[in-house]
Amino acid sequence: MSRHIGHEFSGNLDRDKLVKKLLSLFADEWVAAYYYMYTAMAIKGPNSEEIAELFMREAKEEINKHANMIAQRLQELDVEPPKNFKELYDISGCKYPELPEDPYDIDGFIIAAIKAEICAIKGYKDLYDFVHGPDPVTEELAEELIKDETRHRTELYNLLSRDGVKRLEKELEKI
Ligand SMILES: [Fe+2]
Ligand SMILES: [Fe+2]
Repeated sequence: MSRHIGHEFSGNLDRDKLVKKLLSLFADEWVAAYYYMYTAMAIKGPNSEEIAELFMREAKEEINKHANMIAQRLQELDVEPPKNFKELYDISGCKYPELPEDPYDIDGFIIAAIKAEICAIKGYKDLYDFVHGPDPVTEELAEELIKDETRHRTELYNLLSRDGVKRLEKELEKI
């Protein structure tokens, strides 16, 4: 049985590296939530209301659930997030893909969000691999967030038009 304890690890774990990863993922959540909310306000055209609703819902989950879970883990490790918001943006691992100029290019906004989700999934998989074994508390957190971000990616994908799906496939080839 693994011990579910705050800041002791049951094996060898580079604590500084763990903290760095957690802070970077914490920043990703805030950045994504900002752009999701921005997108919800910006997009125009048919279906934009329904799509804006999904973006708002996901923005809330990034903050209320994900950023919150990571913040709690950081607190258990006696780590404070940056006081300065600019610094928070700087440590974000994913930042955010460029948004389209045209507010009617809803596919373009969705594609940017899908790329952000793919980056988040990679980040949590990396975290999972890093803590697998020595830190079961963070391992569970990573597992849950991989599940949520995968659902986000799928929900966003399902909103793409047929052309949008083709566009996404082309853009992902470039990554
Ligand atoms: Fe998230
Ligand atoms: Fe997400």
